Amino acid sequence: MNKVESTQRAAPESMVPVGVVPTTIVQAAMSDFQACTTHAALENAKSRYLGKSGLITERLKGLSELTPEHKKVHGAEINRDKDSIEAAYKSRRGELETEALNAKLAAESIDVTLPGRGRGTGGIHPVIQTWQRCEEIFGSIGFDVADGPEIEADWYNFTALNNPPNHPARSMQDTFYVDMNGTDGLPLLLRTHTSPMQVRYAKMHADDLTNNGKPIKVIAPGRTYRVDSDATHSPMFHQIEGLWIDENISFADLKGVYTDFLRRFFETDALQVRFRPSYFPFTEPSAEIDMKFDSGPLKGRWLEISGSGQVHPSVVKNFGLDPERFIGFAFGSGLERLTMLKHGIGDLRLFFEGDLRFLKQFA
Ligand code: PHE
Repeated sequence: MNKVESTQRAAPESMVPVGVVPTTIVQAAMSDFQACTTHAALENAKSRYLGKSGLITERLKGLSELTPEHKKVHGAEINRDKDSIEAAYKSRRGELETEALNAKLAAESIDVTLPGRGRGTGGIHPVIQTWQRCEEIFGSIGFDVADGPEIEADWYNFTALNNPPNHPARSMQDTFYVDMNGTDGLPLLLRTHTSPMQVRYAKMHADDLTNNGKPIKVIAPGRTYRVDSDATHSPMFHQIEGLWIDENISFADLKGVYTDFLRRFFETDALQVRFRPSYFPFTEPSAEIDMKFDSGPLKGRWLEISGSGQVHPSVVKNFGLDPERFIGFAFGSGLERLTMLKHGIGDLRLFFEGDLRFLKQFA
């Protein structure tokens, strides 16, 4: 009986116990492992020897029945077999990994004769395209472009716009509050509209108007927030505010400027637009501007695109201007709404889903 054939370290002859056949089990394991062609099969084979009730484990358990002297000798034999089996397992696992890698490399080999894929150039989001187009159009008729904070003080978002705490009109615009107070002692909030920019911009330029006669003529595009979500509302959306204040700016100017803007934006004079009487605390009279879809799933339906009106005298006063002398109009339009009408899009949520199949159409 050759006890050490498959092991590296031979036990001294005197210690070789009777009845142990170490090489058989190692050889069996080696040929078992060799026959495995997948990792799963190899793991199963391994557990037949080294697993909880594997052959080697069972043998180690059997040691407890031997005399201390035999235990020592048999234990060493079994451990050597165990080491050999582990080594055989590892080497087979290595072989399988190499085979798998080679197969993968062969499958993924690069065909250098194929044409290149090119890199996508990306595109500007349709709502931002609208934003940019609005800046161009209003810029061309002398409107300045202003930008302001999205986390706004209560005073700018509501009170200065003639909408004090507890005013019922506040419920028209429910929003998200920030856990921090503004300088007015009230919680800061995510602005519900771009109208606070009327106040911010007009306050800054009031003296220039009063003393130098420089009209306040501005648009302020940006992000706005409300607790709203359906096909025509999203909790975050974009508006563009417009404000023109001077000594003699009337509701007729609002109609003229806005209609001209729409014709240029939609590139047609054949638009169906209506100014519908409405209410906002900061304008009097007030109107909502609606436009009819002429294409897409909402064809024939009216969509509100803007609030508007003649700026209320109390608001003109909050601008730091004399309401007896200065007057003008303001509007606040939804950039998503304008984009929906332009492309005949039936659901505003599409703008925020990031689905490239949708977005690519506008790139
Ligand atoms: N801020 C209003 C809104 O978001 C729209 C508006 C702006 C109305 C300016 C009148 C004047 O609903």
